Amino acid sequence: MLDKVKELHQEIEQYTINSPEQLEQFRMRFISRKGVITELFEGLKSVPPTDRRAVGQELNGLKNFAQERFESFSQQVEEQQAATKNVAPVDLTLPTIPNLTGTQHPLTLVRQRIIQIFERIGFNVADGPEIESDWYNFGALNFPENHPARDMQDTFFVEKASMDTDVSSDMLLRTHTSNVQIRLMERQKLPIRSIMPGRVYRNETISARAHCIFHQVEGLYIDRNVGFKDLKDTLYHFVKEMFEPGTRIRFRPSYFPFTEPSAEIDISCQICGGKGCNICKHTGWVEIAGSGMVDPQVIANCGIDPEEYTGFAFGMGIERITQLKYVVNDLRLYTENDVRFLRQFEGL
Ligand code: PHE
Repeated sequence: MLDKVKELHQEIEQYTINSPEQLEQFRMRFISRKGVITELFEGLKSVPPTDRRAVGQELNGLKNFAQERFESFSQQVEEQQAATKNVAPVDLTLPTIPNLTGTQHPLTLVRQRIIQIFERIGFNVADGPEIESDWYNFGALNFPENHPARDMQDTFFVEKASMDTDVSSDMLLRTHTSNVQIRLMERQKLPIRSIMPGRVYRNETISARAHCIFHQVEGLYIDRNVGFKDLKDTLYHFVKEMFEPGTRIRFRPSYFPFTEPSAEIDISCQICGGKGCNICKHTGWVEIAGSGMVDPQVIANCGIDPEEYTGFAFGMGIERITQLKYVVNDLRLYTENDVRFLRQFEGL
């Protein structure tokens, strides 16, 4: 009988189970009332009483071993079943999940187009700081201290106490990109032919028509013999490339402290074609840029001899150009990040 117990023990040890059917076979053979172990217990009667206790212990050990194995096989089969249930059958006819890549922001699209147009005629792209000293934003550009010209641009000043420098001049958020003109003229080898896109800040109440943050592209050309005709040529070229065929352009005399003479540049309204509408305030014209010949005093402020070098500058608003190209009539849309707005520029 002990040989039989040993044999069954080995058999159980070597048993492997891969399906519910095999589990049932195991149960029938070792666990059920009709199984081999019950049968052995029945045979205990015929064991001599002196050995019965020892053989009974061996049998109990076998019975417990069979029970343990059965429980662990059951768990294993249950887990296998659960795992196969979770794998959904593959349905190759289902449509794919749309791949939602973003779109380029309209201001980015227009900025890149502006850069492309100017790069093709030999301008490079320059950059400058947004937190700027009073000197670079105003002083060097001929805005005298306390001059009413500064009222043209409401300025955000930065508290000097909060800055880790001992600057003597006021610090502010630049109100235009013209600060980069000065920085280029101070440092760059001549001639200079650059455009300077960037973010600018003015203390304005946010509305459909005004915002405290917007974008400009400044342009600067400094060389020997640069004249007003070069300014006109360059901007005519830009308007022709940027806007609808047949767009008209006009230079309207104006004033900036850092250019002389100065002109504002208007183009025929892209929305109504010049007939007159809300966007052009029924004039048929919209302003897109300020411009002029760089004032000799500004050139001298940067350590360049104005008798030898002359140049022109211009500055345009990217939001305004985007409004005209894509009929965006509320400036707030640019910063609200509403995907219903942004998706309209998909594929441009
Ligand atoms: N900086 C001016 C503005 O923001 C625009 C400008 C730039 C005018 C360059 C003339 C020359 O209004």
